[in-house]
Amino acid sequence: MEVLTTTTSVSAELMELEDRYNAHNYHPIPVVLERGRGVHVWDVEGKQYYDFLSAYSAVNQGHCHPRIIGALTEQAQKLTLTSRAFYNNLLGEYAEFITHYFGYDRVLPMNTGVEAVETAIKLTRKWAYKVKGVPEGHAKIIFVEGNFHGRTLGAISASTDPDSRKGFGPYMPGYVVIPYNDLPALQNALLDPTVAGFLVEPIQGEAGVFVPDEDYLTKAFALCRQNNVLFIADEVQTGVARTGRLLCCDHSGIRPDLLILGKALSGGVLPVSAVLGSDEVILTIKPGEHGSTFGGNPLACAVAMEALKVVEDEKLAENAAALGIVFRAKMEALQSKRPDLVKIVRGKGLLNAIVVNDSEHSKTAWNICLELAENGLLAKPTHGNIIRFAPPLVMTREQMDECCDIIERVMLAWR
Ligand SMILES: Cc1ncc(COP(=O)(O)O)c(C=O)c1O
Repeated sequence: MEVLTTTTSVSAELMELEDRYNAHNYHPIPVVLERGRGVHVWDVEGKQYYDFLSAYSAVNQGHCHPRIIGALTEQAQKLTLTSRAFYNNLLGEYAEFITHYFGYDRVLPMNTGVEAVETAIKLTRKWAYKVKGVPEGHAKIIFVEGNFHGRTLGAISASTDPDSRKGFGPYMPGYVVIPYNDLPALQNALLDPTVAGFLVEPIQGEAGVFVPDEDYLTKAFALCRQNNVLFIADEVQTGVARTGRLLCCDHSGIRPDLLILGKALSGGVLPVSAVLGSDEVILTIKPGEHGSTFGGNPLACAVAMEALKVVEDEKLAENAAALGIVFRAKMEALQSKRPDLVKIVRGKGLLNAIVVNDSEHSKTAWNICLELAENGLLAKPTHGNIIRFAPPLVMTREQMDECCDIIERVMLAWR
């Protein structure tokens, strides 16, 4: 176990406790957090940090946003869960709100991001058989290399990351995996008439914030249309204002046939996810064919409506766009001073990454993150030498300047 030099015995004891009794399925940066507010989190010793991960873009509205926590506590005292065996008084209101908010006919509510991905896969298969006319059991879905859609078998079957995949087979059939950002490969894969859907992240977050070519999504969408194939956007990480627009697909002027959302849908307060789509697709699933005990629960509905209102009222997409420009400009200036250390700066809005100029297997990015933590800023490498920078979208310009100063200080002094 690595321990930051400032870590006292309280942190060390808590890390040991977790290591002793919890599964070892993560490798956290060695800080133990106990409180959060806005763009800040505090560890058990009271040290304050800027959060530059935002719980993998779930806390876009900032930690413990008072309006979202208000909605949570108010609803928690009335009714939390009914299951879908009965109607509850908020699901209809929420469904109307979220479909109008994102411009879709219907929503299918779930909890975690990966459950929404699974739901989209199931909807696509049903639509293939009921509407497109693909022979039962033969539907295919196209995925792209480097994807990250979560950790279930349905999601990892599409993964090309050995860490996610290896040792968990056998995998799901009916998947076709093509290179990302490759339109000829998509065109070719779409020749197969049993293909029902193309599932893609508009920016690949976990893979290391890979932004595709400017026209990739628009052209991919058009190709899907031509071939009667559903264009499915996994916006679990990129959605809800993260990239400087409400949805990342808005940058390309397209409206996916199925939209998958999670994470910031609840401002990081509860697991709330959703699949949005047309009547034609969403209504292919009938009662008893899909569901979840917690999906559409009144607590989630109350929290998600408030979380989405906050995004609009506080103009978080606009703020993410403006601060993203500041961040990338400052990081590019840093790159020109330390080209030996900073290889690439990329991203959109406040979903950005720095590729460190070292081998993919080096510890440099990890060690830089440890040093950033010492200096009061929390970030984490995504893959090997890539550090993702994704703060809450409620950040001010002054705070962003201070954060860039921290990053510059650490990187310029790096030996
Ligand atoms: C694009 C994308 N899809 C799906 C998921 C899975 O979400 P969850 O961890 O809530 O299941 C993630 C999580 O990082 C993600 O980034």
